[in-house]
Amino acid sequence: MKYAIRDRSFDKYEDFFKSVLLLLRSLRTYFSKIFVAIIASITFSACQSEEKIKFEQYYIGGKELYEQNCANCHQKDGTGFKELYPPIVGSEYLKDKSQVISIIKNGLSGEIVVKGKKYNQPMPANHSLTNLDIAEITTYIYAEWQGEKKITDVKEVENTLK
Ligand code: HEC
Repeated sequence: MKYAIRDRSFDKYEDFFKSVLLLLRSLRTYFSKIFVAIIASITFSACQSEEKIKFEQYYIGGKELYEQNCANCHQKDGTGFKELYPPIVGSEYLKDKSQVISIIKNGLSGEIVVKGKKYNQPMPANHSLTNLDIAEITTYIYAEWQGEKKITDVKEVENTLK
């Protein structure tokens, strides 16, 4: 009788222990899932802000380069100058980014039409600008006048100009 009770209670004790173990095991998978989710979101937001920092660097650099190299003709606000220099704001040319990149590098001549108006003055080439400079200027132009909040990477410029 005594033995039987001890035996039974031992059984119960073991059952209890087993269920605690099971619970712990399921908690472990539960917490490891949460842990993975936390790590993933930290990594994601770190990458996001790295992208954002890079965008801001390109944008600020691009603004300065634009003001030094382009604003004389196209004006600081990108609206162009009379019949001489076409606007960049609202220009059809912005639809083709690779064309814009090669115009910045190589200049342009011959008659063109921008927003229904004819222009025919040569734009000089900019051989002293590096690919990074051009990437930054392009980033600035597209952010400012095309609402594009991502960088034009230097690799894109390299691929376009080679
Ligand atoms: C000396 C004046 C001058 C400078 C400096 C200049 N451009 Fe131009 N740009 C022009 C002219 C003139 C045209 C039109 C060329 C033609 O008629 O073939 C033009 C055309 C363009 C076009 C295509 C047409 C349009 O308006 O969308 C883009 C884009 C452009 N320029 C961007 C730039 C950028 C960016 C810079 C600075 C890196 C720059 N230009 C510097 C005079 C200039």
